[in-house]
Amino acid sequence: MRKKLIAANWKMYKTPDQARDFFRDILPLVHGHDRDEIVVCPTYLCLDAAVAAAKGSNVAIGAQNLHWEKEGAFTGEVNAAMLLAAGVTHVIIGHSERRQYFGETDDTVNLKLKSALEAGLVPIVCVGEVLEEREAGLTDDVLRRQCLRAFHKVSAKKAVRLVVAYEPVWAIGTGKTATPQMAADAHAIIRAQAAESFGQEFADKLRILYGGSVKPENAHALMSEEEIDGALVGGASLDPKSFAAIVKY
Ligand code: 13P
Repeated sequence: MRKKLIAANWKMYKTPDQARDFFRDILPLVHGHDRDEIVVCPTYLCLDAAVAAAKGSNVAIGAQNLHWEKEGAFTGEVNAAMLLAAGVTHVIIGHSERRQYFGETDDTVNLKLKSALEAGLVPIVCVGEVLEEREAGLTDDVLRRQCLRAFHKVSAKKAVRLVVAYEPVWAIGTGKTATPQMAADAHAIIRAQAAESFGQEFADKLRILYGGSVKPENAHALMSEEEIDGALVGGASLDPKSFAAIVKY
């Protein structure tokens, strides 16, 4: 059995005060919930407030990005060691918004994955096709290529903590959710690629999350699919009641 992971991706929302308010409200709602792992990924600026607010609770804190170098002249960037020092345990890598708007490529995803694993962070690597690719019947190819290149020269031993998130780009922030069956099919492709890259035993244990318009109303149906090992939630994670409802699907 793979323990499900329900992660909030706050994107560019909330100030530190708003982050504190969120934790004040959500912690009592999810107190004692240990069926699933819970992670909240705020902006860099809110990490301190979030780590302090979630201390001693069942909610872990993740970042939304990292740089792969140990240090250097990289204005505006933050690396794995800095995240660890701030009390962060998880990190999202290769989100489609970063690929679309900030020039992130399969190669930078690979570098980031290696650096996160090296540091002991839990990487959540995002993959997913855009609408034109799905309509052209290319979903399988796109997912395989993104995984293959993300996993390049990463050993199964190093990758033990790896988590993958399937986020079809056409379902992000659009209100359009992949049906549980569509998500399960895509997850099976990702798992097959993981089996080729790391071996079947590894693939059987790999957690693959679904992301894209997950809401309290559709969380149960999605999480009931055997292939779906959790959720990466954007918009609906900003409100404590709604995110708690998703956690408890
Ligand atoms: P929405 O839940 O707002 O569609 O965003 C999904 C997402 O991008 C999570 O990383």
